[in-house]
Amino acid sequence: MTPDLLEEGARRAAAHALRAEPGKTESGGRQAGFSRIARPGEVDVTHGRILYLEEVSVSFDGFKAINNLSLDIAPGELRCIIGPNGAGKTTLMDIITGKTRPDAGRVYFGSTIDLLRYTEPEIAQLGIGRKFQKPTVFEQLTVFENLELALKTNKAVTASMFFRLDSAQSDRLLEVLHTIHLADSVSAQAGNLSHGQKQWLEIGMLLMQDPKLLLLDEPVAGMTDEETERTAELFLSLKGRHSLMVVEHDMSFINTISDIVTVLCEGSVLAQGTLEQVQNDERVIEVYLGR
Ligand SMILES: Nc1ncnc2c1ncn2[C@@H]1O[C@H](COP(=O)(O)OP(=O)(O)OP(=O)(O)O)[C@@H](O)[C@H]1O
Ligand SMILES: [Mg+2]
Repeated sequence: MTPDLLEEGARRAAAHALRAEPGKTESGGRQAGFSRIARPGEVDVTHGRILYLEEVSVSFDGFKAINNLSLDIAPGELRCIIGPNGAGKTTLMDIITGKTRPDAGRVYFGSTIDLLRYTEPEIAQLGIGRKFQKPTVFEQLTVFENLELALKTNKAVTASMFFRLDSAQSDRLLEVLHTIHLADSVSAQAGNLSHGQKQWLEIGMLLMQDPKLLLLDEPVAGMTDEETERTAELFLSLKGRHSLMVVEHDMSFINTISDIVTVLCEGSVLAQGTLEQVQNDERVIEVYLGR
């Protein structure tokens, strides 16, 4: 067992002890997620976890894609998830975002929000943004219009027709434009951007909604080396302000951005630690890195 896992276990045991003693929890002994109303914009991270999965399993036609998986992420953390094809990485994101319902287990956003009680759009509203592998921007619209549209998506059609950015939203848009390195392309049509720029624009559209947790599935696939480097800078700049879960096969990218790396295999956590630690783990070499 690695020191990380030991520390992790001690932390989890402390959290369990709190739960076991009614009256000693910060929710006054009430069951987490029960009779407590999650206010929009607020996630209770008093237990030091923005995301918490415990013993989650899901099968497709008898095949266990996720198998008794437990994982948690700290607020502001940038967690990298690696593992062989079919390990369950995308399925894990499907479960967190409500696209797939697990057969068993618990999935919490902060200490109190039971994600299994929410629909996919509700989970997005709670502050979990997801980026799929393929960029999905509006090609006919400009960079500016795409970012502006990201603010409108929750509004009724009539409201969105009369929608004008207020000054806080304009400031946010400008800030996001700089963050995603597209300030010079604000009037460019999205369809004319490079593959990497489209990926950044889509990340920018997610950022417009100020998500607390961002899930990014293979964000640098198909990018040039230079675009990959700029994406690494971008993710490092988001860390702290947002929590991120990044799935990637590109090891040099993982090396640049990672603190803790979780290795998934056959739907479970095979190893966890720094990239160096997991790279030296015999089991990881055998199933993934040694190929
Ligand atoms: N909706 C589904 N129905 C049936 N099988 C599925 C479904 N979603 C995923 N699977 C299966 O579950 C397993 C895990 O798939 P998943 O896409 O999560 O792997 P992954 O780790 O993201 O792999 P990759 O690195 O190739 O993207 C695969 O065997 C896949 O075929
Ligand atoms: Mg995948």
